[in-house]
Amino acid sequence: MHVRAAFQLLSAASIVAAINIPPLAAFGQAATTTAVPIQNFYSAPPNSSASGSTYAPGVTVNRATGPATGTVTAPRTLTYTQTDYTPNPSVFRTACAEISSSYASRLSVYASQVATDADAIYPTRVAVRPREAWDCLYSIPLNVDVTLEFISGVAKYLQFQSTIEYLKNPPANSLQDPVDIIGGLEKLAEQVRSGAIAHHIRFENAFRKLLQRCHDGHLGFNFNSGSLINFRGPFSLISVSPDAIEKPKVYVEDDLFSLDGGDEISYVTRIDGYDVEAWLAEWADYGSSQSPDARYNAIFANRDPGSDGTFYTLYGWYPGKNSIAITFSNSSTYEYEYRAFARWNSALNWTGIRTGADFYDQIVLNPAYFETSSSQEGAAPAPAPEPTGSGSIYHAHDAPKIKKRQMRTGVATTTTSTRASATSTPRTPRLVYFNAPFMRHRVGPYVQDLNGIIGGYFLNDTVKTAVLDVSSFAAADDDAEYELLGFQAALAAFFAEARRVGSQKLILDVRGNGGGLIALGFELYKQLFPAAPANSYYRIRAHEAAQIFAIAAEEIATDKATEEFIETVRRVGLNNIEDEPLAVALAINSGFNRQNTLDIRGNTPANLDTFIGPYNITGLVNDTVSLLVQTNYNFPLQDNDISGFGSRANFSETPQPFRKEDILLLSDGTCASTCTIFSELLKREQANVSTVVMGGRPNDGPSAHVGGTHGSRVLTYANLLSNSRRVVNLFPPETDEQEQYLIDNIPLALPFGFTYAAINFRDAIRPEDETATPLQFALEPADCRLYFSPIGFTDSIYLWGELSKLKWGTGSAFEGCAVGGLQRGEESTGPVPDDPDTVEIVNYILRPLSVPA
Ligand SMILES: *[C@@H]1O[C@H](CO)[C@@H](O)[C@H](O)[C@H]1NC(C)=O
Ligand SMILES: *[C@@H]1O[C@H](CO)[C@@H](O)[C@H](O)[C@H]1NC(C)=O
Ligand SMILES: *[C@@H]1O[C@H](CO)[C@@H](O)[C@H](O)[C@H]1NC(C)=O
Ligand SMILES: *[C@@H]1O[C@H](CO)[C@@H](O)[C@H](O)[C@H]1NC(C)=O
Ligand SMILES: *[C@@H]1O[C@H](CO)[C@@H](O)[C@H](O)[C@H]1NC(C)=O
Ligand SMILES: *[C@@H]1O[C@H](CO)[C@@H](O)[C@H](O)[C@H]1NC(C)=O
Ligand SMILES: *[C@@H]1O[C@H](CO)[C@@H](O)[C@H](O)[C@H]1NC(C)=O
Ligand SMILES: *[C@@H]1O[C@H](CO)[C@@H](O)[C@H](O)[C@H]1NC(C)=O
Repeated sequence: MHVRAAFQLLSAASIVAAINIPPLAAFGQAATTTAVPIQNFYSAPPNSSASGSTYAPGVTVNRATGPATGTVTAPRTLTYTQTDYTPNPSVFRTACAEISSSYASRLSVYASQVATDADAIYPTRVAVRPREAWDCLYSIPLNVDVTLEFISGVAKYLQFQSTIEYLKNPPANSLQDPVDIIGGLEKLAEQVRSGAIAHHIRFENAFRKLLQRCHDGHLGFNFNSGSLINFRGPFSLISVSPDAIEKPKVYVEDDLFSLDGGDEISYVTRIDGYDVEAWLAEWADYGSSQSPDARYNAIFANRDPGSDGTFYTLYGWYPGKNSIAITFSNSSTYEYEYRAFARWNSALNWTGIRTGADFYDQIVLNPAYFETSSSQEGAAPAPAPEPTGSGSIYHAHDAPKIKKRQMRTGVATTTTSTRASATSTPRTPRLVYFNAPFMRHRVGPYVQDLNGIIGGYFLNDTVKTAVLDVSSFAAADDDAEYELLGFQAALAAFFAEARRVGSQKLILDVRGNGGGLIALGFELYKQLFPAAPANSYYRIRAHEAAQIFAIAAEEIATDKATEEFIETVRRVGLNNIEDEPLAVALAINSGFNRQNTLDIRGNTPANLDTFIGPYNITGLVNDTVSLLVQTNYNFPLQDNDISGFGSRANFSETPQPFRKEDILLLSDGTCASTCTIFSELLKREQANVSTVVMGGRPNDGPSAHVGGTHGSRVLTYANLLSNSRRVVNLFPPETDEQEQYLIDNIPLALPFGFTYAAINFRDAIRPEDETATPLQFALEPADCRLYFSPIGFTDSIYLWGELSKLKWGTGSAFEGCAVGGLQRGEESTGPVPDDPDTVEIVNYILRPLSVPA
């Protein structure tokens, strides 16, 4: 019963797949083309006379921040610690060599296959024994000096983590344990010096764990070792309640199929002898969501969108032994094998690795993963992919489930794609598809965008419930094009059809939505509420290095240079800018420039000091931060305009498709990054949008509907390094003191290689919040909480129909909510269709949903 299907293995691999980093080469060079006066900040700190003003967001508006159904429960106590097998040196010396030879034989099998079958699939992994894999990792030597260099170097990156001060002293009710990142680094350095950490892999794991405890999906430095070896659990677990209201129990996923049959299926009572919930609580603590319920959900398999859950993927970690004991409610205990895989990719492989020392030299120190991702992007001006869709430079987050997704937080993509499009004329392809298969749903949606990001359904019920399935804000495919255009077109077709058929109610399903392009989040919000304001405020930390970066960006993106840039873009188009205008674009998009930002009064901050401050925050934490601003989407830094902005400004006159009272937001708590930006727009501006959250810990307490990282932009290792390069190019140090000043302050290349490395850069802040606390620490309970029932788990279409009946109709299979409720007492009458469209009627209406007797 525990043999995994191949597709599950594939999607499991994609869950841990790393996120590529934009080319380093595209940065740095750009700035040199602009001649600027050298500002000497080496001797004096940056002009910080603005720091006299206390940080004040400016306006105070009393506004509903959403219904509270109670306080959230306190954090659990750790009761279980993973064991950790320590290999015998006589064994581990040979482990890497054995794996390397398994790799070589796998490739030679492939070589003989491909000789006879040209379609043979190139292998990317081979199964090895978990202990052998761990022995190999354990044999990697620790280099004390290099590790200490890494620790002090990475601290210069982590000072950009927006929440670093809050993490030390997290707000009450945030359910975040205190984490002192810098203190933790100092402790690690001490352990490395003293020999308490004597193995490189122990250092990697301790560092990973330090950052994981921050529960911020944007924050992570993933070492290369994880792409060469990873571990897998024996199967996936699920958490299921018979009726969505009774507390759920834990089952082996494959047993779910028998659950329908009504047979007595046993649930899990113990794992390795520990109470199952205590074990899972400990395991969930490794998760990246801020909400403990979202972390709990991440343990389990899911079907929409599909995932295997971290009990199976193990976050790639060595589980400490070869097998795991599961006890079921029928009192049987079984021992199941863990598994391990040696893996490889185009940048890193096992050739020539005989010892742990080889692994250290060839893998740990290897920056090739970045360089490969850079060359995939295509270094300008070499041939490169077509334009990657608009808004890519405003990429808040890359959903971790997306395989090999390009990190598009920087303008790197713009750089390459703009160069490329100068030589190739892109044809606009078909932007939407009707009645085509979508995800794993049993019925295709009425309409979806060309990249399959969203699917729009209409249920055949009395209120003609419309459902928009929004499991991401970015295409799964790295090379996707026309993401914003396709998204725009699909939404327009969907809402036009909703008007035509007289659909009165809308369910927005954002389950599993880990974010994507910020532009898509804004686009969806504006199409829902064309006339409503769309303000999403953020601030960054304003420490010494941030100020240095801001000064450098300002040197290039002066008012005059910015005006000229805008003029050039108007004349030749964003895709055709080069040299100096390109350097200006890179500086503006560096994250440290004010030119495309607006303060809460809607003005671009007058000068550098107004923008970067630093402004003091005092109270719960003491820190220095920038002004509270939002991105100006009228600024010409996107290929295509978001509806309601720029050339699409008049979109605000479009009729609103649904009343806010007629919208239900369905989540599983994982909503992260751009998804939180979108939900926050809904929540702040449209307080009556109802929310339902699925799953979570079996505690019958309130549960957050938005539980993933609330940060509103990542900056990657490469982004930060490019800012450092801009500084060094503009202000080359002339003395040893100046050089030392830079070394002490700005991020420099780190000795170890990564498959993903980034910090959360922007804190999302509600301007109405007088404490100006990052939303990362605000967990708002959903109005209604339901657990997963077997059919609700396997069949989203059924779930939508029953939720619609629960909220707006009668006869729902759900007898209310497990926690909270959806009744708000208002009349639910929708708009009458007055603007019939001519879209052909196609077979999109669903068959009547069968209501269980
Ligand atoms: C520093 O900022 C103050 C206030 O904004 C301004 O008057 C002054 O000219 C600035 N000094 C420099 C050197 O830019
Ligand atoms: C802001 O903090 C700095 C450093 O602690 C201090 O010198 C300055 O007086 C503070 N400004 C205000 C307005 O409190
Ligand atoms: C106990 O329950 C598990 C899970 O349903 C099942 O796999 C196993 O066969 C059962 N054992 C016995 C002895 O019935
Ligand atoms: C393995 O990596 C080495 C060194 O990077 C490279 O030369 C070789 O081509 C790679 N082998 C395969 C099969 O990818
Ligand atoms: C913030 O600074 C004030 C004044 O220096 C101090 O009393 C307070 O303890 C500090 N708070 C924190 C959390 O460090
Ligand atoms: C907005 O302007 C465009 C062209 O200028 C026009 O085609 C479109 O109908 C207008 N939309 C609205 C809602 O007025
Ligand atoms: C929410 O709905 C209630 C009942 O219809 C109404 O009284 C209230 O003003 C609405 N709140 C907002 C912010 O629209
Ligand atoms: C929609 O439901 C009605 C009533 O159950 C049924 O008569 C009709 O055939 C359904 N339409 C479609 C397209 O399934």
